[in-house]
Amino acid sequence: MLRIISRSPDETLALGRWLGSRLRPGDFVALTGDLGTGKTALATGILAGLGVARTGGSPTFTLLWEYEGRIPVYHWDVYRVDDPAELEDLGYEEYFFSETGVNLVEWADRVRELWPDDVLEIALSYGAGAEERVLAFTGAERYRPLLEELAHAGFGL
Ligand SMILES: Nc1ncnc2c1ncn2[C@@H]1O[C@H](COP(=O)(O)OP(=O)(O)OP(=O)(O)O)[C@@H](O)[C@H]1O
Ligand SMILES: [Mg+2]
Repeated sequence: MLRIISRSPDETLALGRWLGSRLRPGDFVALTGDLGTGKTALATGILAGLGVARTGGSPTFTLLWEYEGRIPVYHWDVYRVDDPAELEDLGYEEYFFSETGVNLVEWADRVRELWPDDVLEIALSYGAGAEERVLAFTGAERYRPLLEELAHAGFGL
């Protein structure tokens, strides 16, 4: 596991941009962590790094926003999902198991049983100061080169 401390919203955004610019087709990024820990802040950076110019707009369905960045992006916020079966009803597999797009899932732990095998989990939590957040990265083999590069990229120093 790799731990990085962010000391401001801007640092989280920059880290997100860095990550987003390196994500590849088929990647699945699971963001977990309590209210206000910075999942959306990080996701905003990741989307920018993926080349998504404008976010928001009308969702494909309530929990999913689809974007065309340099590759297709499926941005989920499953906060309101009480039962993973709700996603099954929406045909989530088409997205979660896509080999051409990137999934970016906020509150991903709510649907953990539906995750594909190769996931990059980023668990966010509060740090010591008001603007401190701890980002803990756990990734499948597929993400090892990315995480090694990240460990040396100079974030959280
Ligand atoms: N280092 C930091 N990184 C990210 N956000 C920070 C940091 N320090 C303070 N903040 C603040 O914490 C809040 C994070 O909000 P954000 O919406 O990104 O969290 P979230 O995890 O998506 O919350 P929710 O689960 O309610 O959607 C923002 O108000 C942001 O300004
Ligand atoms: Mg959020």
